[in-house]
Amino acid sequence: MFNNLNNCHNFKDFRKLAKKRLPSPIFHYIDGAADDETTYRRNTEAYEQCDLVPNVLTGVKDVDMSTTVMGQKLDMPLYCAPTALQRLFHHEGEIAVGKAAEKYGTMFGVSSLGTASIEEISQQISSPKLFQLYVHKDQGLNKDLIDRCKASKFETLAVTVDTAVGGNRERDLYTGFTIPMRLTLNSMMSFMTHPMWAYNYFTKPKWELSNLKNHISEGTNVMTSIGDYFTKMLDNSLDWKGVEEINKRWGGQFAIKGIMSVEDAKKAVDVGASAIMLSNHGGRQLDGARSPFDQLAEVVDAVGDKVDVICEGGIQRGTHVLKALSLGAKACSGGRMYLYALAAGGQKGVERAIGNLRNEIERDMKLMGVSSIDQLTKKNLKFR
Ligand code: LAC
Repeated sequence: MFNNLNNCHNFKDFRKLAKKRLPSPIFHYIDGAADDETTYRRNTEAYEQCDLVPNVLTGVKDVDMSTTVMGQKLDMPLYCAPTALQRLFHHEGEIAVGKAAEKYGTMFGVSSLGTASIEEISQQISSPKLFQLYVHKDQGLNKDLIDRCKASKFETLAVTVDTAVGGNRERDLYTGFTIPMRLTLNSMMSFMTHPMWAYNYFTKPKWELSNLKNHISEGTNVMTSIGDYFTKMLDNSLDWKGVEEINKRWGGQFAIKGIMSVEDAKKAVDVGASAIMLSNHGGRQLDGARSPFDQLAEVVDAVGDKVDVICEGGIQRGTHVLKALSLGAKACSGGRMYLYALAAGGQKGVERAIGNLRNEIERDMKLMGVSSIDQLTKKNLKFR
């Protein structure tokens, strides 16, 4: 039943298909999270523990779900969060995700650990692009990435701040997931049982960490797990002053990704951020951390009039987006919501996943009795 994209109607369907298509270490790298994965589960559960209260008879023939985030007009209030290693999941990689985002007029995040270059993406994708900067110990690398984004006219930059060390991703420990992939008996077996993936992996041009390869060999020539990469390569002496300096060098629309507390949200305003991304890295870093949705109301109350607040993680349904917007988020973003679809079917898969979510948001807005997202307010939500 679940063997083609046309049968994928929701997050769970894409996940199932991705599981079938991907060698298991790769599937579990996407699917897994830190420690007991409680935060990962909570990210979605939080949305399920409050209810929408609709209004009716409001005339909802035409619905406008557009929003403006960091000065970028998006045709829908949900965008693709930056995620690493996309060509490992499907040979079309970042370009496929960018094209799908472009089709729906939404933003597309590109990771420092991406597998397409800043320049290539900029040439091919016209919708707003966000570059996710992982601040490395190598300051020259950081400067180079920022300058390349400027030269390539990336619209926005987000510095990720929740990766002082690698999270404890036990699934990766069990499967031995590294980049480049380790060739063991188990991984070879896994390739053989996923021949389509293996065919593409071995016949298409070899993927690399396009934006980092001129500076470092970890992940390209030197094998590393993602957890070890964070711990070894990223600058955990980074502080607010460092972030302020990055913002100065960048000089454009600037977000801080991985804020959770009200205190930090206020500091983000002080260092001149135009947006904050409430995020716990999809539950992949600090297990036991609160969910972004649970923190949203407090943060919006404190800084919502000064910065765009984006609620990231756990989104599986259009109603989840509506709930976050009701509490004052400007938009939502997610990774797995399109990554399983990428693995399942490349650009077509991602288009279908975003298209499904877009349709859900539109249908649910009509059922809520709202025709634009600014009509969604706290009054539309009841906590049990
Ligand atoms: C991860 C990073 C690379 O969570 O975003 O695996």
